[in-house]
Amino acid sequence: MEKFIWDNKYSVGHPLIDHQHRSLMGIVNELVELSEEKAPSSSKYINILMQLDEYVHTHFKAEEILMTQVGYPDLVQHLSIHGALSDQASRLIMNINIDDLNSTVQFLVEWLEQHIMVEDMKFKHYVS
Ligand SMILES: [Fe+2]
Repeated sequence: MEKFIWDNKYSVGHPLIDHQHRSLMGIVNELVELSEEKAPSSSKYINILMQLDEYVHTHFKAEEILMTQVGYPDLVQHLSIHGALSDQASRLIMNINIDDLNSTVQFLVEWLEQHIMVEDMKFKHYVS
């Protein structure tokens, strides 16, 4: 599975949000690495997922404050997307299954890519 490599195309033009996106990529990359191990440790897996869950919440909160500050017009829609994504992430953690590591990691890679490139790019114009 491809790991994230930071590139300017990912920049939403706001230093804190870009920094947080890089950190999220770093955590997801750790999961990609884990999925390539012969016998991945499930406690390591849980640790990384919990770290991701916590960071996603911190990150969403920061985005919500920023979008409110700049008067982003689609704030309500973005909030509902954040709600759905948080629920999905929490469900993944609740139903943790080391035997299904590849599909979970694949899901999270796509999830992060979509979050940055599709959803967050919509507020680039307002925050940069
Ligand atoms: Fe984001």
